[in-house]
Amino acid sequence: MIKLTTGAKKKEKTEKIAEDAQTSKDPKTINEEVKVQPMEQEEPDATIEDLPGVGPATAEKLREAGFDELLAIAVMTPAALADAAELGESVSAKIIAGAKKMANIGGFISGGALMERRREIMKVSSGVESLDTLLGGGFETQALVEVYGAFGSGKTQVAHQLAVNCTMPLSEGGMDGDVFYIDTEDTFRPERIIQMSNALNLDPDIVLARIHVARAYNTAHQILLVDEIKRMSSSMNIKMVVVDSLTSHFRSEYIGRGMLADRQQKLNRHLKELKQLADVNNALVFMTNQVHSKPDAMWGDPTKPVGGHVLAHASTFRIYLRKAKAGRRIARLVDSPNLPDGECVFQVTEDGLCD
Ligand code: GTP
Ligand code: MG
Repeated sequence: MIKLTTGAKKKEKTEKIAEDAQTSKDPKTINEEVKVQPMEQEEPDATIEDLPGVGPATAEKLREAGFDELLAIAVMTPAALADAAELGESVSAKIIAGAKKMANIGGFISGGALMERRREIMKVSSGVESLDTLLGGGFETQALVEVYGAFGSGKTQVAHQLAVNCTMPLSEGGMDGDVFYIDTEDTFRPERIIQMSNALNLDPDIVLARIHVARAYNTAHQILLVDEIKRMSSSMNIKMVVVDSLTSHFRSEYIGRGMLADRQQKLNRHLKELKQLADVNNALVFMTNQVHSKPDAMWGDPTKPVGGHVLAHASTFRIYLRKAKAGRRIARLVDSPNLPDGECVFQVTEDGLCD
């Protein structure tokens, strides 16, 4: 069981919320007994073993390659599946065709059903009120959140803070979940996690135990780590995935115009897998991104995020971070599906982010 050392006041709040949850549960149970919903035909879900041409050995290959769900297979191309799971291409095509028929692809759903899914969205607090407000109450799950900015603008600090906060109980603005942290620049610092945890009266050991860090050495490794998270997520309550930085390896490996199309294609697939992680686990994917300067810009800020249209389209929320005077940081929400653009100011201190 997870035990959090918190102040007496916070504990009181938790108990109150637990009580509320208890009382609100009872009427719901009664409702469930009375209401019979003919719409909900809950069939047992098909598994990959049910696919045509999949025996135990192939099933194992598929699982080993991270394909343990029909939908994950249904969306692949035969060549890509063959490559990933070390199968023949014609076998792969057959498996994909089967998965397409059997997977609950969903397709069109009603606005009401979508609203139901969105009701599951959770929000983690950054600890900075103005930043939470800018984002409509915090950083939300089922979303890809991209933070871009120059070096030293505080992207990694925000990632650390959110990772700590994610492990906190729901009643305190957290998501009581595990965090996977893909570190491409070797800038994850457990020392910072300890400082931030202490500032929040959390037991640093417990927080550190829930943040699972992997150093990614190149793009191929970075992509593989997402598969690894997919595999591990079935036995964990994963609520946040950090990719810091999303683009650094892509930038250094794919140099020049000639490789741009390749790079964007690979990045696109990586982003799709990250989005799938966010959706399947009801988790937040937090990605940092670098900027490059567009010297030909005639007016406005010449700083542009790396990653082009592929990343611009994939990110649910984009935040531009920049340094201001006296150690302050300005966060600007530049793209969001349902919130107005705006700015807020916060500070990075030894204790973490603060207003
Ligand atoms: P790149 O990864 O290089 O692109 O930068 P970044 O945007 O990730 O910057 P990062 O989050 O690493 O921010 C580094 C800055 O955070 C430092 O220059 C400090 O200003 C601030 N910072 C980091 N740790 C501390 C700390 O313990 N105390 C204080 N006061 N500031 C800190
Ligand atoms: Mg950084």
